[in-house]
Amino acid sequence: MSFLACRIYKETDSNGVKSTLRRIERMHLDELSPGDLVVRVHYSGVNYKDALAATGRGAILKHFPLNAGIDLAGVVVSSSDPRFAPGQAILVNGCGLGESHDGGLAEFARIPSDWAIPLPQGLSMKQAMIIGTAGFTAGLAIHRMLSNGQNHDLGPIVVTGASGGVGSMAISILSTLGFDTIAVSGRENFYQYLSDLGANRVCSAAQLALSERPLDKVEFGGAIDNVGGQLLSQILAHTQLWGNVASIGLADTHQFNSSVFPMILRGVSLLGVSSTNCPMPLRKEIWSRLATDLKPLSLDKILAEEVALKDVSAVFNPLLDRKRYGRTIVKCLT
Ligand SMILES: NC(=O)c1ccc[n+]([C@@H]2O[C@H](COP(=O)([O-])OP(=O)(O)OC[C@H]3O[C@@H](n4cnc5c(N)ncnc54)[C@H](OP(=O)(O)O)[C@@H]3O)[C@@H](O)[C@H]2O)c1
Repeated sequence: MSFLACRIYKETDSNGVKSTLRRIERMHLDELSPGDLVVRVHYSGVNYKDALAATGRGAILKHFPLNAGIDLAGVVVSSSDPRFAPGQAILVNGCGLGESHDGGLAEFARIPSDWAIPLPQGLSMKQAMIIGTAGFTAGLAIHRMLSNGQNHDLGPIVVTGASGGVGSMAISILSTLGFDTIAVSGRENFYQYLSDLGANRVCSAAQLALSERPLDKVEFGGAIDNVGGQLLSQILAHTQLWGNVASIGLADTHQFNSSVFPMILRGVSLLGVSSTNCPMPLRKEIWSRLATDLKPLSLDKILAEEVALKDVSAVFNPLLDRKRYGRTIVKCLT
């Protein structure tokens, strides 16, 4: 039996020039990376990292060829692990899926059973992939902030790169929890969308009018940052005593210059958030919370588009070129 997959190749032309190519092509189960669970994938999603991997605009894949897709939700077809039975719905995100192991943008996947999370009650497979790695990462950041003392009294949480997948999820979850939020977006045409997700204020980075001093007037209780660079440095300098700044992304740049003043004079914490390497007990806890108290209320609004697997190739470049918003999910079950 053959099935469809979005498979990424690195090829060298006759002049020795290397390029990354993606093909929607048919393959067989025994060609997939090894694992003790075979899964019929129902939904996957398109994340920033998938777009970097599929276009070759980021060095994400550890070897070639490889099926793209860092997350999936599907149904177990066969299992040699007694914890999982055929017919059971599961999800996977991170752990090397779509980076070192054939990923979720395919009709079938074969994975180590230790990576599988039984689909939490309260989430459909489609909802799990609207949330996807973006929502998982936002949830992980918020969980870390709350565990480290973030509370409503510290002031509003500023979210950068707000119209993207992680940003949209963060605004929605924080609003559900009753936090005031400031959505920072470079695109005015998404201001109404961000207000509809629950943002209390929506503005550009320039409109925040932050200084470049290493420490300045308190403006934010905390932050979820998707862009890196100068904006992250400025936000740190304007964060409340004992506030938390979660560093998630590099949509602007991976570089970042700051001083120690926010940390040593205000007790500000800069929290790292790594969805790929999150330990499994914490990963399960976050997914369980995403189905209950951290469940984003605005999933329908955040779902920008559902595309068929055969059409996924067209999504990658526009996502990196800041032409999309919210979440794009991929229907892999035909
Ligand atoms: N640490 C982790 O485990 C983890 C997990 C998931 C994602 N990430 C990272 O988090 C970031 C966001 O991921 P995502 O899935 O939300 O991607 P996304 O859907 O493409 O959203 C990125 C958003 O960042 C803003 N942006 C894009 N280019 C920018 C630029 N040059 N300068 C400033 N802002 C820019 C845009 O928002 P506006 O137009 O509204 O400003 C865009 O919608 C990415 O860097 C991704 O690699 C990290």
